[in-house]
Amino acid sequence: MSTEPTSGGPAVPSLDELRGRALAAAAPRRYGADAAIACDRVVKIFTADKVEVQALQGLDLTVDRGDLVALVGASGSGKSTLLNILAGLETPTAGSARVDGCDLLAMSAKERLRYRREVVGFVWQQTARNLMPFLTAAQNVALPVQLRGGRSTPAAARRRGQRVAELLEALEIGDLAHRRPAELSGGQQQRVAIAVAMANDPSVLLADEPTGELDTETAAGVFHAFRTVNRELGATVVIVTHDPMVAGEVRRSVAIRDGRTASEVLRRTEVDEHGTETTSEREYVMLDRTGRVQLPAAFLAALGMEHRVAADLAADHIALRPDDPGH
Ligand SMILES: Nc1ncnc2c1ncn2[C@@H]1O[C@H](COP(=O)(O)OP(=O)(O)OP(=O)(O)O)[C@@H](O)[C@H]1O
Ligand SMILES: [Mg+2]
Repeated sequence: MSTEPTSGGPAVPSLDELRGRALAAAAPRRYGADAAIACDRVVKIFTADKVEVQALQGLDLTVDRGDLVALVGASGSGKSTLLNILAGLETPTAGSARVDGCDLLAMSAKERLRYRREVVGFVWQQTARNLMPFLTAAQNVALPVQLRGGRSTPAAARRRGQRVAELLEALEIGDLAHRRPAELSGGQQQRVAIAVAMANDPSVLLADEPTGELDTETAAGVFHAFRTVNRELGATVVIVTHDPMVAGEVRRSVAIRDGRTASEVLRRTEVDEHGTETTSEREYVMLDRTGRVQLPAAFLAALGMEHRVAADLAADHIALRPDDPGH
């Protein structure tokens, strides 16, 4: 049997390749190895006026490829800090963070630049921050592709133009290509911003409160554009939001509390034999890798639990009860 690739048919793997695959399959799997995003005990400490702020305090999060996830949490809980780390704008103080296989702690300045241009896209809350005011929508979308470099042949320019047109079309703003940001509504500007963020076909799209400055109806249109990017362009999307509409429509929404992922809500939509759709929703608390869980504050308050709880193992669950002062 030949181990050379045959022309036309699929390449036949060499013995070395097969051996490599077998070894890789037998090796212990790294935490979140196949995930688009894998944060493992990420710590971020800011020092301002000699005071240390622990914005992230050992945050664990994995996001599967192709998922659309909302990040929610009180002001100051660390959402933007996490997003800035994932965007390659900040580096963690400790822990590990990988996005699409890139190690965010080990990147050189040059790799970081490439990472920000090609692996992740970013949409900010402030519509004005996302776009160049003196360029048209189409020119704004073309800019990241130009900055990426490559050959400047007429064929490359044609391909770039095609990509820009396709993106604007996919986000239903094709007819706005020649307008400048000042000639667009807030919602239209955000949709152009999504096209800009997707210009270099990144695998992960991050957005920090992208609908924060918009009314409900406009926000719904922008959220629809994120869905399109997720479903049709295949990007993994993470949206930080206070908007209950956004958080209520994604399959998974993760809550951050005090710099850690504290709980998450998973939604499942099922279609029965009559074609009726039902959506079920369940809240989970996170179990970290050392076995710690953070219980919902409302649950603890309801039973007056604090400081110490009695834990009992049953066949299929663990029961937590208020500490019995009789013991
Ligand atoms: N550059 C910085 N220097 C010092 N402290 C910072 C810096 N950035 C964030 N922090 C602090 O880190 C904590 C987390 O801030 P972060 O901006 O991540 O919160 P957030 O969840 O995005 O809040 P919001 O919903 O208000 O946007 C806060 O206590 C904040 O004051
Ligand atoms: Mg923020």
